[in-house]
Amino acid sequence: MLSRQQCEQYDQMDELRAFRDAFSLPDEVIYLDGNSLGPLPKAAVERVASCVQEEWGEGLIRSWNQAGWWHLPRTLGDRIAPLIGAESGEVLVADTISVNLFKLLCAALQQRSERRVIVSEADNFPTDLYIAQGIAQWYGDVELRLLQPGQEPANVIDEQVALVLLTHVNYRTGRLWDMPAITAQTQQAGALSIWDLAHSAGALPVDLNHCGVDYAVGCTYKYLNAGPGAPAFVFAAKCHQATIQQPLNGWWGHARPFDFDPQYTPAEGIERLLVGTQPILSFAALDASLALWEQVDMQAVRAKSQALTALFIDLIEQECADYGLQLASPRSAEQRGSQVSWQHPDAYAIMQALIARGVIGDFRAPDILRFGFAPLYIRFTDVWDAVQQLKVIVVNNEWQQAKFQQRSTVT
Ligand SMILES: Cc1ncc(COP(=O)(O)O)c(C=O)c1O
Repeated sequence: MLSRQQCEQYDQMDELRAFRDAFSLPDEVIYLDGNSLGPLPKAAVERVASCVQEEWGEGLIRSWNQAGWWHLPRTLGDRIAPLIGAESGEVLVADTISVNLFKLLCAALQQRSERRVIVSEADNFPTDLYIAQGIAQWYGDVELRLLQPGQEPANVIDEQVALVLLTHVNYRTGRLWDMPAITAQTQQAGALSIWDLAHSAGALPVDLNHCGVDYAVGCTYKYLNAGPGAPAFVFAAKCHQATIQQPLNGWWGHARPFDFDPQYTPAEGIERLLVGTQPILSFAALDASLALWEQVDMQAVRAKSQALTALFIDLIEQECADYGLQLASPRSAEQRGSQVSWQHPDAYAIMQALIARGVIGDFRAPDILRFGFAPLYIRFTDVWDAVQQLKVIVVNNEWQQAKFQQRSTVT
């Protein structure tokens, strides 16, 4: 039997424990939703304030040069690069995942113009599918081929496939695709690989160049703690950059934006994936959070993440067995990201009851309770305490109260 005392010992031995102090976390809250919106790094408060007061307030338009605003998509991208196994000049911070996917899918279809099939997965995050559907409709001759649950990519990738778009860690179940193997299969078939790292960046070590990945996208507001609405990042392997063409030819992607040339000439490197003006205040928060991430050993993050998620599964099975919770994530830690999901027919109400008790996770339709374990600030005792709250709720059917049945816009 696992005990709270044991969890306290794990916390004492935790080599990442000092990082918790760098985050502003409300008392009485156990935050298991950093996979959706990461909490505030304390240093971001001052950094954003100085961006507002000094760079904007005092520097005014001069800050585009003096504070380096113009180059932030690239300078911040260079700082994300080591977290995902990329080189300097291969990552930009800009726009949203959806917009970046649009650019990459168009570029990849152009680079494989004799092929007209996009492979993705039926259980992908909807925006990835919507963008692919939109492109298929727009081109008219592009087919979207979706992997069904349980199907392996190798079974559907053939010589008609232009690109394979998969999300590394599934948003609902946390299942982790085998990036090296699938990227190799994709390329052996002559197609390009595009990975969505929304639930990977900052959650586990990612080595894009080692896997030979062509393109990737990810976000900074989840595990990377850059705040609500913080911009996404986009990766393009060096070998592809010179031939990238995409239809969103904005002035930020021009080779010489301040020539104001009426004719578009793409920038030489990854900057050709830029479109228009970027959110400087959000960049300031990202600057502060990356200063933290620069001190983090991703192998230690992975080890603790696997220990936290395994503990959570074991404790739920020990404490709340027989209350209808079905594990929806892989049982093997090797095969999951940094989240654990449970299926329950009343998942929404149970999650609302948990939030009322200070344990914040989220609900994903139709029946998933989803919990994220961000190793920089989650303690082993938090896992114990969260499970005890869940136990009270399911043992007493607390979730059946009417107030927990009301659906909010954001779940
Ligand atoms: C896998 C995945 N892709 C994309 C997104 C969101 O994309 P966007 O930045 O366009 O809002 C999410 C959001 O949770 C996600 O989980």
